[in-house]
Amino acid sequence: MMRLPNPPTVAIIGATGAVGREMLAILEERSFPVRSLRLFASPRSVGTRITFRNESMTCEALENTAAADLSSINLALFSAGKGISKEWAPRFRDAGALVVDNSSAFRADPACPLVVPEVNPHALDALHGPAIIANPNCSTILALVAVTPLHRAIGVERMVAATYQAASGAGASAMAELESQAHAFAANQPFDTRIFGRQYLFNVFSHNSAIGDDGYNEEERKLLTETRRMWESSTVRISATCVRVPTLRAHAEALHLEFARATSESEIRTLLAHAPGVRIVDDRAANRFPEPLDAAGGDDVLVGRIRMDPSVPNDRGAALFLCGDQIRKGAALNAIQIAERFL
Ligand code: A2P
Repeated sequence: MMRLPNPPTVAIIGATGAVGREMLAILEERSFPVRSLRLFASPRSVGTRITFRNESMTCEALENTAAADLSSINLALFSAGKGISKEWAPRFRDAGALVVDNSSAFRADPACPLVVPEVNPHALDALHGPAIIANPNCSTILALVAVTPLHRAIGVERMVAATYQAASGAGASAMAELESQAHAFAANQPFDTRIFGRQYLFNVFSHNSAIGDDGYNEEERKLLTETRRMWESSTVRISATCVRVPTLRAHAEALHLEFARATSESEIRTLLAHAPGVRIVDDRAANRFPEPLDAAGGDDVLVGRIRMDPSVPNDRGAALFLCGDQIRKGAALNAIQIAERFL
């Protein structure tokens, strides 16, 4: 496997966004070695100052950047949307950078590994030079951190998922819109509905991604295609219903699993108790289970409501409920954990 120079020169593309800012915070928190840092955003943000390790840095416009100017960048962390990734990630790679891309642009590209370090770190072994690595969709990351250890031990044949997704998945402006609706409600003012086109506060609606002829939206389809790719399984069956709920930054998911063999609640609990990146929150007596507010700002996927599913015969079904920070493990943290593998 290739190694980054240590310390590497780092670029964040989308540095002013919800994920970009979290990437900066996580680089600091985890003492990620950084020789020098460049911050890219849209022309609107040129001159915006962002502090990193007590140093005030200035954002550059990506679109004014010449290819030659990219040659000194060792690691590029992208979170500026699919269109920007499609156009710019190959340019950074061709200039010599290792790219970790948070968008969906390269997730199906066989040349670009799709990786969650707790799930399929071996997919990185084949890389021997500059490359683009795809960060999976946030709902898929959170689900697979919890479910992969169960899959490896018991064999997941089918998963039925219902997600409860936070505003953050649609970016910083979507979080701002939800907050502004809360202020507007309190002040009896009209709501700003630019991002979602509707009242979000006190509401729940189907995920805002494109819906296909089969009635599934893109978010739901990603859970199937990305899980199959990371598990290297063409047979696992998945059906999902993805909706937005008015939480700010942590997603929740209800997962119903059907296994290849009989299992028990205690086997599932034991596997989850040893699963990296998972913290069990499952206090039936106190009715304390994973909640988005408890997951927000943390690294762990919180897992609870662990129980057998009696609708599946022969003890082959189980159900659980999880919450994870969409901006951190669902995006920024996973990208940086991937990068850490190359240090
Ligand atoms: P900007 O703040 O200048 O618009 P989020 O997902 O939170 O909405 O963040 C999206 C990120 O992508 C922001 O940092 C945003 O920068 C950046 N971005 C949007 N359009 C471009 C562009 N044309 N070139 C570079 N960065 C962009």
